[in-house]
Parts: sequence; structure tokens; C-alpha cells
Amino acid sequence: AKLEGFRNEPFTDFRQEPARQAMEEAIARVKSEELRREIPLRIGGRDIFTDTKIHSINPGNLDETIGWVSKADRDLAEQAMQAALEAFESWKKVPPRERAQYLLKAAALMTERKHEFSALMVLEAGKNYAEADADTAEAIDFLNFYAREMIRLSEINETMPLTPVPGEQNRLTYIPLGVGVIIPPWNFPLAICVGMTSAAIVSGNTVLLKPASNTPVIAYKFAALMEEVGLPAGVLNFIPGSGGEVGDYLTTHPQTRFISFTGSKEVGLRISKLAAEPAPGQIWIKRLVAEMGGKDGIVVDETADLDAAAQAIVASAFGYQGQKCSAGSRALIVESVYDEVVEKVVRLTKQLEIGLPEENKAVGPVIDEASFRKILDYIEIGKQEGQLLAGGRQAEGNGYYIEPTVFAGVDGKARIMQEEIFGPVLAIGQAKDWREAIAMYNDTEFGLTGAFFSREEDRISEALETMHCGNLYINRKCTGALVGAHPFGGFNLSGTDSKAGGYDYLLLFTQAKLTSRKL
Ligand code: SER
Repeated sequence: AKLEGFRNEPFTDFRQEPARQAMEEAIARVKSEELRREIPLRIGGRDIFTDTKIHSINPGNLDETIGWVSKADRDLAEQAMQAALEAFESWKKVPPRERAQYLLKAAALMTERKHEFSALMVLEAGKNYAEADADTAEAIDFLNFYAREMIRLSEINETMPLTPVPGEQNRLTYIPLGVGVIIPPWNFPLAICVGMTSAAIVSGNTVLLKPASNTPVIAYKFAALMEEVGLPAGVLNFIPGSGGEVGDYLTTHPQTRFISFTGSKEVGLRISKLAAEPAPGQIWIKRLVAEMGGKDGIVVDETADLDAAAQAIVASAFGYQGQKCSAGSRALIVESVYDEVVEKVVRLTKQLEIGLPEENKAVGPVIDEASFRKILDYIEIGKQEGQLLAGGRQAEGNGYYIEPTVFAGVDGKARIMQEEIFGPVLAIGQAKDWREAIAMYNDTEFGLTGAFFSREEDRISEALETMHCGNLYINRKCTGALVGAHPFGGFNLSGTDSKAGGYDYLLLFTQAKLTSRKL
């Protein structure tokens, strides 16, 4: 059968009663059937249970255990490397179209069971229904998109023929790299984990997946799904473990061919440094694909639709408690409409209900104790750097709840304007005009997402050129990139501008081999 073109998986509208009920039922089912299990490593198709475990808990209800997840050490990481090396010898010979089928099957099953995947994220990551549903939809999109992309790349000679040379037959083939280490983050614990892993696999590589230690249970659910669709043993090895131990060991391993990382700037730079040094016996330069932090922002001029701007600022700052690399943690507003926009933002922020994700409250907990402390420390710093207009405190509940917090009158050089907080903290700054606001926006070491609100065409054209970031949006929020439509990745210390969900992403996991045959 002919494969249809890629389409984004639609989001669920939870204002509809049946949808809300379906999610509630899925949460109840996951609670009774999937929690508190012991979860193994998967190495070369074998389950391995270890004595030491990662204890995954619900950040919104600290007494609720999500699972006990086996933890790899160096020896087990080495076993996984050997399993992946062995599997690579056969997996690289599987035709691209056949490799793509595994992703398509997994996408179909995940679509059927989407609320189950989302429900587990509600409980393990503290996402509300819409955030969890968008995460699952994006995971489905990555599977469907990269499957088609691999097929397209395998047919590249038909669609983009090489310059003909008489007497020669020339072909370009994208072949895999080898064994890759995949280190995804906890904030899109399904979507980004699935995207990074499936891109590497469909390109013909075998992988060692080290999921984030805060969200290993949802990552396991994906690993189990890939097994269910029959992915050969050893192609995807599941090895949760500590970054310092397993992460460093594999990053410096001579047989690691590439590392695909999404997470903080600090960890990304450390991996970059470790990976750059060739290990004894290593015969390549390791490839690094890194997606790191952001200090993203929204610029509003005096001609803009101010209600739409305020809504976008609040959605970008506080969606999933601001724990997105795309989060709009800064707003830069021109003087003449400054008070009005600030007032609207504060009013909308104060309307946000805080509470349990399973009750679908707008604002849930932050991910863990370390984040919780760090964010509260930044709020103290913010009190020195700006006027506190909303929030500013820990919130009620048996979890890591923090009030959505707004600081206004913040200087462009202030720490809360420059440093990534990764929590529900918004810094608002004032500019004398729209060009100054853009200059303030650009005054950052990051460059991931940004948005510009204006009704003036000339200004929009200039902003499109001058705002320096990987994903720039006009008159809309700066979060929520769609696979295929908004290839996602940033400049400068936001990473290697590897565009996830884009048409060049798989090239990062392949190498092009040119063959020229004399006729
Ligand atoms: N892709 C996500 C967004 O755009 C962030 O990782 O919000």
C-alpha cells in the first residue's frame, strides 16, 4: 500500500466531556495496573533486574511511587555497548523501508493507546491533560515523520539526481554511523525520547538509551512498545543510570560513534568536552547532536493586539510550569503599552489554578526537589532585581508546587533576565521602543525560541531578520513547535541547531557515501 503523506496527530479537546472522561479512566487504569512495578534494563533483548533501583515518584504527590527502575552501572553499560555493536552488524543491512515499518507500527499502536501514554506522564512528570496529550501527539508525529524521512532519503537519487556525467553511474547513499548514546530530558519524557531514539534507529544505527532519571517509567513504556512491534534485539538497549557514571562512561567510550543529547547547557557542554577527546583505539570524531537550554522571550510593540500578546506571554511562561527549553521566560515590552500589558499578564497569571495534574489543574508541580530549591532561590534573587507582581512562593500540596511568579521592571542584564531558571518565573523588562526591545531580546547567550507581537508589516519584516533564534514566531506563543511544520532547534548556547522534526535531521545520524561506477 502507498504510504500517505505526513500529517500531525491532532490534539484532544479536553473541554469535551467524553475526552475528559477517557483521560480520567486512563489515569485510573494506569494507577491500578502500571504503577509500583519493578522495571528491568533491556540489553540485547534480555531483561536484567538490578538490586539498586531508581525510585520514580509523582512530583505532585510525593507518596505515590511510579516505579522501581533498574539501574545500570559501568559493567552493564559495557554489556549494552557490546550488544549494540553486535546488533549493528545486521541492523545496518536491513533496508530503510523495512526499518521505517517498525516506526509506523509503533505510531499506530501509540495512537490507539494515546491516553494511556499521556496518563502515565500526568503521573510521572506532573503534566496536565493538554500538556501530556501534546507530548504523546508529538511522539506519534516523530515516529510517523522520521519513518517517511528515511524512505525519502533512501530515494534521494530519484528526486535529487546527481549531475549526470557521460560514462559514469553515480549514486549517493545515506548509510548509518554505528552505535549511538541517546540521552533525552525529563521535560518531554515521551516526545523527545521517542524522537531522538527513533531518528537514530530508523537511520540504521543501534542505540543505548539512557532515559532521564526523573521519568524512566514512561521511557520504558516506549522501549516496551518497540519490542512489541518486533524491533530486533539489541537495536534499542534500555539502560537507565546516573549521568556521572553511565553517561560519562559511554560518552568517553571509543566505540561510541555519536551522542544525541537534550538537556541543560551545563551537561551539554560537559558532554561536548568529554566527547571531543579521542579515546585510545577510537577511529572517528564522535558526532554530537545537542539541544540545550534557552532564555526565550516575547517582544511586544505598541501596535500589537495586547490581549493576544498577554495570553501568549502567560502560556509561554507557565505552560508545564515553565519547564520547557522553549519557555518564554522573558517579556520585553515597549514603554507606551508597558503598564497595560503588565496588568493583563498579572491578571491572567493570578487566574491560573495550581494543583494536582491528575485533576487537570493549569499549573502543577515542578519536577523534583533540586529544581524546586533552585527555582525558589531564583525567586529570592528576583526580589532584588525586580518588582514581584504575582506569585513568589511555594504553593500548597504534597509535591513541588510553586506559584507562577511575575517580576516586572527587570533590567536586561539582571540574572533572572540572563539565566535559565526552568520554572514558573517570568521576568518583564521595559524598552523605549520596539528596536530597543529586540536588542534586549538578542542580549543573551542562548537563541532557541522567540516571538514578536506587532501589527506593522515593516517592523515584522525587520524582526524576522534581526531576532536571532532558531525558532521565531510572529503574533503567537513561543512554545509548541509542531513536527514537520516547525523544525525545532536553537543557536549559540542553545545547541547545535539540529532541527528536530525537520528535513535535515536524519542527516545527523547518517553519513553520505558516494559511489561512482565507470560504465
Ligand atoms: N519543542 C518544544 C516546544 O516547542 C520544546 O522542546 O515547546
